Amino acid sequence: MTKDQDTSKLWGGRFSEATDTFVQRFTASVQFDQRMAAEDIAGSLAHASMLCNVGVLDENELQEIQRGLAQVQSEIENGSFQWSVELEDVHMNIEARLTELIGVTGKKLHTGRSRNDQVATDIRLYLRGAIDRIAAELTRLQRGTIEMAAQNTDTIMPGFTHLQTAQPVSFGHHLLAWNEMLERDHSRLMDCRVRLNQSPLGAAALAGTTYPIDREQTASALGFDKPTENSLDSVSDRDFAIEFCSFAALLMTHLSRISEELVLWTSAQFDFIELPDRFCTGSSIMPQKKNPDVPELVRGKVGRVNGHLVSLLSLMKSQPLAYNKDNQEDKEPLFDTVDTVLDSLRAFGDMIPAIRPRPDQMREAARRGFSTATDLADYLVGLGLPFRDAHEVVGKAVAHGVDCGLDLAEMELETLQGFCADIGEDVFDVLTLEGSLAARDHLGGTAPSQVAAAAQRALARLEQRD
Ligand code: ARG
Repeated sequence: MTKDQDTSKLWGGRFSEATDTFVQRFTASVQFDQRMAAEDIAGSLAHASMLCNVGVLDENELQEIQRGLAQVQSEIENGSFQWSVELEDVHMNIEARLTELIGVTGKKLHTGRSRNDQVATDIRLYLRGAIDRIAAELTRLQRGTIEMAAQNTDTIMPGFTHLQTAQPVSFGHHLLAWNEMLERDHSRLMDCRVRLNQSPLGAAALAGTTYPIDREQTASALGFDKPTENSLDSVSDRDFAIEFCSFAALLMTHLSRISEELVLWTSAQFDFIELPDRFCTGSSIMPQKKNPDVPELVRGKVGRVNGHLVSLLSLMKSQPLAYNKDNQEDKEPLFDTVDTVLDSLRAFGDMIPAIRPRPDQMREAARRGFSTATDLADYLVGLGLPFRDAHEVVGKAVAHGVDCGLDLAEMELETLQGFCADIGEDVFDVLTLEGSLAARDHLGGTAPSQVAAAAQRALARLEQRD
């Protein structure tokens, strides 16, 4: 719902003609910045209390403002609030309604403040809340991943390089690799939160204000660690939003890598895992299809998040100090990034613990792919061959295996001795998949005991988060 065309502007004093209707719509942000209404009201309450404390407002005026803002808040929450494009943005919509409700005292709220420091405050508060929700979802996903890893320390799968079978690894080890990516994403998110959590309130339009404001008070009332240092910087830089989008681009990149593996693994060609039906959809023409839509969609969504990062970087580039209207363009990319990340994490947090591994298929794939060739080379080194010669010998044995359709472990001892006479019966210990895993028994290696310990450490790290 919009109000009448002739509503007078809160900044209309120096203007002699009405804003062009198209320009009004073009310059307005209320369509999207109303998402920050709760933060805007919180900021106004903190500002008003501070103004009262320093004697700019009296106690009655403060109470009127508090009552009025509470009413505005409930109107917004119950959907009866009438947002107006003529009032441009969330800040002026709320202030105008406040004045409608409480009269002239409403007009005093903006004393010692500008929309420039107001919007800079709102967006930080909004993003801080979003960061906390995202951190919780990320932690839930990590917990699910680590728990699945702990249950699969000795589930054997082929490890890949170049998507070619390389060496056998524990499925749990593979899952914990995902967790390490996510762990770094979480740490980047927390870094971003630290730099974001400073209060720009009090910077006013750009230079500060002539009123005896107490910036420490508003900062602490709003849960900021401290006030920002420089008023010009406070109202103009959106680097915290860029940093957040850069965190998001990396997180989504990681989720897209995981998605790609899930898509491959659910295919008939791999058949390593099964995804429960609730994460898949069918085809309208091919009755046999069960498509891994959720991972595919998350893989696709990295595109828009990367795009938003580039939008914000381009938006900030070359802006002179201090505030410029360009910055109004920060919100849509930022909000969509928050929504996309939250939805993707929610989908993954539900889906990862529901993955059903197929250990027999994984094992068979590892067995078929000559994945213990390096182990045979290491065995030959143990017999005294230089590694390069051992590599050559095993290469010949593999070529023979390819010709006759046999894996190394399936060859007769005599056959293997044909490639190197010193090979003994004990070679079969290292040619088994279990032997191969168990031999990589060091920090960061794939031996099941190491994977179990790594899962414990990963869980302990999660427990240390608040
Ligand atoms: N809607 C504006 C924004 O998002 C609020 C600040 C406007 N300030 C101004 N001086 N026009 O950036």
